[in-house]
Amino acid sequence: MRLTLNHALAVLAAAVCMGVSPAYAAVNGSHAKIPCTACHAGQAAPAAPAQKACLACHGSYEALAKKTEGKFNPHDSHMGRVECAQCHSMHKKSRFICHDCHAIPNRTFKGE
Ligand code: HEC
Ligand code: HEC
Ligand code: HEC
Ligand code: HEC
Repeated sequence: MRLTLNHALAVLAAAVCMGVSPAYAAVNGSHAKIPCTACHAGQAAPAAPAQKACLACHGSYEALAKKTEGKFNPHDSHMGRVECAQCHSMHKKSRFICHDCHAIPNRTFKGE
């Protein structure tokens, strides 16, 4: 009984540790091996990178818009050039903010 209880406590302690461990160490998708500084250079404390940090590798908004042509193009709409991090999170689940106002069935994130 005591062993079982200790075991349960150990599992609980591990879960609590995982909860407080730095969640941002994990980078999702194709960026997993990219150094933090590729996105967070010049920031005193890491915060959502400005779009120019992303576009250094991804070219331009126009180039992105070509890749995602079609209805409800996330990179070409009446919303303009929205900051990438409004939708793409490299650490958590990405969120397609256009869903706040539109039901869009055919757009899904890849990997991030
Ligand atoms: C490919 C780009 C990219 C890389 C590489 C990256 N990040 Fe981020 N990071 C982001 C984006 C986008 C956000 C804002 C969205 C979010 O919180 O997920 C962010 C947010 C953060 C935040 C939270 C800031 C806040 O205001 O809540 C921290 C801390 C952070 N990153 C640390 C790191 C560390 C440490 C690494 C390296 C292990 C890293 N990042 C690598 C893109 C990146
Ligand atoms: C150091 C270069 C580099 C930087 C900086 C960078 N990316 Fe990427 N990104 C890549 C590469 C390489 C790929 C994989 C090939 C491709 O899809 O172009 C990729 C893929 C992606 C994908 C497709 C999904 C996936 O995980 O494969 C998204 C979305 C993306 N990047 C968004 C961003 C955003 C948003 C930022 C800024 C926060 C950013 N990237 C910064 C290099 C970079
Ligand atoms: C309004 C939300 C939104 C914003 C802002 C946004 N994206 Fe996206 N992005 C998406 C969605 C949704 C997809 C997947 C859609 C699809 O493939 O049809 C996507 C796909 C991508 C892809 C994969 C393209 C492919 O198919 O190869 C890349 C790379 C990317 N985004 C980079 C960026 C970068 C860099 C920025 C900022 C300059 C940015 N995105 C801004 C929502 C957004
Ligand atoms: C704050 C609410 C809001 C957000 C967020 C929003 N839209 Fe809209 N959008 C509207 C309204 C209102 C209209 C005009 C009424 C209509 O035609 O549905 C519209 C119209 C459109 C249309 C033309 C109408 C159609 O059905 O063909 C497209 C395409 C569109 N939005 C795409 C987007 C994309 C892509 C995003 C994200 C980058 C976005 N919207 C975010 C409110 C929003």
